[in-house]
Amino acid sequence: MSKYRAFDRIGFVGAGRTGTALATAMSAAGYRVAAVASRSGESATALARQIPGCSTRPSAREVVEMCDVVLLTVPDDAIAGVAAELPWRNGQAAVHCSGALSLEVLEGARRQGAMVGGLHPYQTFPAGLDATEWLPGSTFAIESSGELARWLEELVQRLECRAVTVAAEDRPLYHAAAVMGCGFVATLLDTAGGLWETMGFSREEAMRAILSLATGTLRGIEAQGTRAAATGPITRGDSGTIRKHMEALAERMPESLPLYRQAALSMVGMVLKQGTITPEQARHMEDALNAAPALAAEPVSAGDER
Ligand SMILES: NC(=O)c1ccc[n+]([C@@H]2O[C@H](COP(=O)([O-])OP(=O)(O)OC[C@H]3O[C@@H](n4cnc5c(N)ncnc54)[C@H](OP(=O)(O)O)[C@@H]3O)[C@@H](O)[C@H]2O)c1
Repeated sequence: MSKYRAFDRIGFVGAGRTGTALATAMSAAGYRVAAVASRSGESATALARQIPGCSTRPSAREVVEMCDVVLLTVPDDAIAGVAAELPWRNGQAAVHCSGALSLEVLEGARRQGAMVGGLHPYQTFPAGLDATEWLPGSTFAIESSGELARWLEELVQRLECRAVTVAAEDRPLYHAAAVMGCGFVATLLDTAGGLWETMGFSREEAMRAILSLATGTLRGIEAQGTRAAATGPITRGDSGTIRKHMEALAERMPESLPLYRQAALSMVGMVLKQGTITPEQARHMEDALNAAPALAAEPVSAGDER
């Protein structure tokens, strides 16, 4: 049990991907998840069914009335409006889970006397998958103060995760990095799948090959870090191979060319820092990347780090 008795009953407004993952993980960790509401009610009913002692409420207002801490796991754009409409009281806590937003969105709750907090899981919760399996070990950004901050830190610890504090001015960078670690990884692999399809393979065949490669890459990154784990022609300084890639992409899938070029230029910069290629090799590869017919008018450099 938590040593913060004032925060005994936990409520959720929003029973989507994040609400479901956090509510089930908190319940499994011994928290009393007492009530949940969502817009349609169907998702709240489905979530409440998975949690012993949790009831579906017909409105968010009832969740706020019966709980001590309420997590607003609604889409970012809805948080401020939902928080402002609800009847908060002194000593109660309102918490949002957005990575991009500050505590300002909970101003409506704070004005009524509630403590406010941000609890952002640096993790992905895709629809239809049980994310509680890979939640342990994740990082959470906490924004709060006083008793609520301590309670949130304890919560993160009990979920077997790690808490960090991110300065308000760094929040956009923190969130942009999350987009790179999830959505951009998926986008790169999706584009790689498109190249396989261009060769006539099915998406399933493509993904079987690409996923196994990507999984090996992630294992390498986990063991040795991003720079040491990267392999391929750029790490060897093979500008002739890069030139062949650019020509083939321009001919067969030109829409993938800007992504390939930008990622390759960034990789040239990364590998140069690692010291596995010479500045001259880097220059040859940059020339190859900037020389592709469709891109010749718009040269880009990998960076000024050298
Ligand atoms: N998904 C992720 O991987 C992830 C990761 C970290 C943080 N987050 C953050 O978590 C929050 C929720 O995102 P999500 O991806 O979980 O969203 P989601 O899956 O779309 O779920 C949103 C939930 O909010 C409900 N809802 C929408 N508008 C509402 C309103 N006006 N009043 C009451 N309930 C309302 C929806 O109800 P219905 O079910 O009835 O439609 C749904 O249950 C966001 O702040 C997001 O930034 C998400």
